[in-house]
Amino acid sequence: MVSTSPCSTPAPANMSMCASSTSSWSSAFATNFQGTLYAIDAALPLLRRAEGRTQAPLLAAVSSASAYLPLPRAEAYGASKAAISHFLESLRLDLAAERIDVSVIHPGFVETPLTARNDFSMPMQISAERAAEYIVEGLAKRRLDIHFPRRFTYLVKALGVLPPALRRRFGLRIAGRGRGGGEA
Ligand SMILES: NC(=O)c1ccc[n+]([C@@H]2O[C@H](COP(=O)([O-])OP(=O)(O)OC[C@H]3O[C@@H](n4cnc5c(N)ncnc54)[C@H](OP(=O)(O)O)[C@@H]3O)[C@@H](O)[C@H]2O)c1
Repeated sequence: MVSTSPCSTPAPANMSMCASSTSSWSSAFATNFQGTLYAIDAALPLLRRAEGRTQAPLLAAVSSASAYLPLPRAEAYGASKAAISHFLESLRLDLAAERIDVSVIHPGFVETPLTARNDFSMPMQISAERAAEYIVEGLAKRRLDIHFPRRFTYLVKALGVLPPALRRRFGLRIAGRGRGGGEA
């Protein structure tokens, strides 16, 4: 299983994200996206060599519910997670011929040191233990998309397929309340 080290630099609630530096955006991609690629690069030869297997090997990586919907103050973090989801969904198609499965994990808000830094409310946040249970269950069922808590992630997914004008209206309401996507 592959997990990414999180990196994000959400701007303070009253600061436009445009004020944050391009180096912090690059850093989010280096840690979240490139870090995941390096881990996959290291894991794939091992998965290919897995012998005597009764099930197809499974490659999994942690993305985020923020990949489903662009939110204020989550430009680089959200984009780096969307890149992970897109990359893995594409890789899944190429690895099918080798009988290697790919799961993408999309957590909502989880109580960790990462989210302890957020200065906005995090709806439907769950404990790290509960998140681990969702992940273990999803991997056991070999789900392609492991997302939780479902009430939150289905809502975010639904908002994510709205027309751009409606997504913009929703995002501006969140921004107006000084909230953001941060790490979710
Ligand atoms: N928490 C959430 O609500 C949430 C939601 C969606 C997705 N996620 C994703 O879930 C994953 C785990 O997040 P988390 O909340 O558990 O974060 P966390 O509590 O901050 O833990 C992150 C871990 O990554 C390591 N790390 C951070 N930067 C690193 C770097 N540049 N190189 C190597 N290791 C580094 C940290 O090591 P040290 O302890 O040594 O610093 C720590 O062990 C991340 O991919 C995150 O984006 C989290």
